[in-house]
Amino acid sequence: MQVIEDPTAFQQTCRSAGRVVLVPTMGALHEGHLALIRRAREVAAGEGTVAVSIFVNPIQFDRPGDLAAYPKPLEADLAACEKEGADLVLVPKDGAMYAADRSISITESLLSKHLCGATRPGHFDGVCTVVLKLFLLSHATAAVFGEKDFQQLAVIRRMVRDLNVPIDIIGHPTIRESDGLAMSSRNVRLLPEHRRDAPRLRQALIAARDLLPYGERSAATFVETARRHLTASPFFRVDYLEVVDAETLQPVAAIQRPAVLALAGFYGEVRLIDHIGLHP
Ligand code: PAF
Repeated sequence: MQVIEDPTAFQQTCRSAGRVVLVPTMGALHEGHLALIRRAREVAAGEGTVAVSIFVNPIQFDRPGDLAAYPKPLEADLAACEKEGADLVLVPKDGAMYAADRSISITESLLSKHLCGATRPGHFDGVCTVVLKLFLLSHATAAVFGEKDFQQLAVIRRMVRDLNVPIDIIGHPTIRESDGLAMSSRNVRLLPEHRRDAPRLRQALIAARDLLPYGERSAATFVETARRHLTASPFFRVDYLEVVDAETLQPVAAIQRPAVLALAGFYGEVRLIDHIGLHP
């Protein structure tokens, strides 16, 4: 496995590497990321190259404290990449990804209006900009993303469609802890009592989804059911709880087509997200 710090050197290596499958990450790799790398290994098969990027992208953070607290266990991350069969890892040096006077960025203006886009100004511009750069640097023909960040995945698919980016986007199902908490690099920052409380996020979503077989279709009822579970927590602070169309990510009042109940919130300063599909 080759570790490259200079984005231009990475680009040159990828250009001569044949078929590249990319896994963009911000490091602090957990089982969820490892599943993405394994999937990339399958897609690349024996002859293709699996490239992983590890870059805590400053322009997608809306809270400086969140950026500063983001874990960076680089040695463990590199060992994990090697173990899962990555061939190339890009770990850009500080300042190497963005020119000091950069003046171009990518903006998505529909799917990012709600959910995380509404409460994290500039977040998806930052994601789109770095992801497009990573696509261009890696020459990848496919890239694997976790479905946990389903809004991110939808926005990236839209960017690829609207800008004709020649790449296949592969979504991989959310990996969960045994108690149902979605794996996230932020989970290690939870206080023990918050970590014990956190399975309630998944439970709240399931309690709402379980109304579907009884014929419930009202978005407000799904939201209220989940909210009751969440507000019973002495710790958790809801950021948003919303039912949106699964494709357009626009809020819906009633479930007539596949929809998603999405939530975000805080334990202290730690922001967690999760979602569940509502299929009528
Ligand atoms: O999902 C993430 O870890 C990041 O948003 C990504 C896609 C690597 C872009 O920085």
